[in-house]
Amino acid sequence: MIKTAVVYSNVWEDPELNRVSLQVKPGQNVLSITSGGCNSLCLLLEDPKKLISIDLNTAQLAMLELKRAAIIELEYEDFIEVLGTPFFRKLSTRPAHYRIDLYNKIKKHMPGYAVDFWDQNQQLLKDGAMMCGKVEKFFAIYRTILKWLYGEKEILKLFEARDLAEQKEIYKNFRKKKWNGLHRILLNRTILSLVKGAHSFAMVDFEDFAGNLNRKRTLGMTRFFNPDNYFMCLLMLGGHYHEKGMSPYLLRENFPKLKKNIGALEIYKGTIGDVLKKEGPGTYDRLNLSNIFEWMTNEVFNSIIRECIELSRPGARMAWRYTFARPRELDAENLSRLEYEPELSDRLFKQDRAFIYESFHVYHLK
Ligand SMILES: C[S@@+](CC[C@H](N)C(=O)[O-])C[C@H]1O[C@@H](n2cnc3c(N)ncnc32)[C@H](O)[C@@H]1O
Repeated sequence: MIKTAVVYSNVWEDPELNRVSLQVKPGQNVLSITSGGCNSLCLLLEDPKKLISIDLNTAQLAMLELKRAAIIELEYEDFIEVLGTPFFRKLSTRPAHYRIDLYNKIKKHMPGYAVDFWDQNQQLLKDGAMMCGKVEKFFAIYRTILKWLYGEKEILKLFEARDLAEQKEIYKNFRKKKWNGLHRILLNRTILSLVKGAHSFAMVDFEDFAGNLNRKRTLGMTRFFNPDNYFMCLLMLGGHYHEKGMSPYLLRENFPKLKKNIGALEIYKGTIGDVLKKEGPGTYDRLNLSNIFEWMTNEVFNSIIRECIELSRPGARMAWRYTFARPRELDAENLSRLEYEPELSDRLFKQDRAFIYESFHVYHLK
C-alpha cells in the first residue's frame, strides 16, 4: 500500500525559465527535480542524451511514470485524455471509465510501484490526474470560494480583455476587497502548511503571506495576458483557456519529439547525493533544482550545492528559485566554484508566468 499522496500534479514553475537559463545542448546529461513531472518532460524536448528526473516522494514519481507511459503508448488525443488535461468550458466527451481503459493499456510501461499507486487511486484517474495534487485541490477550493464571492461572470472579465492593456485596466478597477479578505483567511502559515507541509515554510521570516501573494497576483495580472498564461488559467479557472496555452510538453506540435526522446528519461527515487553515488562525479551538464532549497539551512544548502558541483561537468549550468524564503548564501568554497549570472536571473525572473516566486537564480561552473 503506497501511503504518500501527490502534492503537485502540475509543476507550478515556468518551464521557459529553465529552457532559457539552462540552455540544454543536444547530447548533454540533465538532472531535474520531478514534482509533477511537467518540467522534466519540457527539458526532454531539448534533446538531451539523458535526463534523470529525481524526487523523494514516490507519488510524484508515479505521476511522471503515468505521463511517460502515456507518451510511449498513446497517440496525442489519448495522451491528453488519460491525464485528464483540463480545458475551461470544454469537458471531455469521453466517459470517465475511458481513462481507466487507457490506463490499463499503458500500465505495462510502468514499474510495479507506479502500477500499485494508480491501481489504488483509480478514482484520481477518473476525476483527472492532472488536477489530483493537494496543491491543485487547494486551488479548487480557492476558486470555488472566489466564484461564490464574485460570481463567475465577474471573474471571467479578467480573462476576456482584448489585450494586456485592457486586462490591466479591468484588473485595476476590479473590486479586490473580498479577494484580499479571502487571501487573509486562506493564505496564512497554518493553512499553507496543511497543503504543502510545515517544512516548506520553516525558513520564511515573515507572516504576511496574503500581502505577499496580493502583490504577486498583481504582477501576474499586469504582466501576462491571462488567456495565454496557463498558470493563471489553471489557478483561477481550473483549466487551460485554449489548446496553445499549455505547458510545452502538452502541445500537439511537440508530441512527436516527446515520443522520440522519451527513451532518454530515467525516473529515479533519491537525492542529488544518491545520483552522485550511483553515477559518479562529472556526469551532468545541466541541473534544474526547482525550489528544493526553500526550507534548508545554509549548511544543508551548501552541502547539496557541493554535491551538485561534484556531479557537474565543466561548463555545467544550474538554476533554482524560491517561493517565499530569502535566498540562501553560498559559502566561500562554493562561491569560488560557481559564477552567478545576475542579468539573466533578473531578466528571467521578470518573465516568470508562474508569478508566485520570490527570486530566480542561474549559475554556471567556473
Ligand atoms: C521543491 S518541490 C516544489 C514544487 C514546485 N515549486 C512546483 O510548483 O511544482 C518539488 C519536489 O521536490 C521534491 N524534493 C524536495 N527536496 C528534494 C531533494 N532534496 N531531492 C529530491 N527531490 C526533492 C519534493 O518531493 C517535491 O515533489
